Amino acid sequence: MKILVLNGPNLNMLGKRQPEHYGSLTLLEINQKLSAHADELGVELDSFQSNHEGELIEKIHSAEGEYSAVVFNPGAFTHYSLALRDAVASVTIPVVEIHLSNIYAREEFRAKSVIAPVAAGQISGLGVDSYLLGLSAATAIAKRKKQQ
Ligand code: DQA
Repeated sequence: MKILVLNGPNLNMLGKRQPEHYGSLTLLEINQKLSAHADELGVELDSFQSNHEGELIEKIHSAEGEYSAVVFNPGAFTHYSLALRDAVASVTIPVVEIHLSNIYAREEFRAKSVIAPVAAGQISGLGVDSYLLGLSAATAIAKRKKQQ
């Protein structure tokens, strides 16, 4: 079973980007933790980051068939990209939305996710644990779906 971890804009800057909100780990370090957790869960993992909406949309489209689930941090696209929301809605594999920071405890514009209504669920505010719990959840949902 293969799971895709998808990261949106500015997440390549983790480590030096607003550590008070996003912590001090780089995306590479987060991906290393995710790989170790994937081994424990017995799943394969790919990760992809892009600062471009269209690339993220195409990755979601092509994930169908190749991956059993997606763990997705859409970055700022969370709050306004209807095109990404439609992409998530267009695939049948579960997409778990995750955020390092608590999007409900920050600026007002962050408290709305246009992705959440079409995601399998959302994890927000737990730092790197949002990614690790997102991977656990995505794996559990995909395994259950496979058994049906
Ligand atoms: C984020 C929260 C978004 O509001 C922000 O634009 C990001 C990161 C998070 O992981 O906390 O880029 O998705």
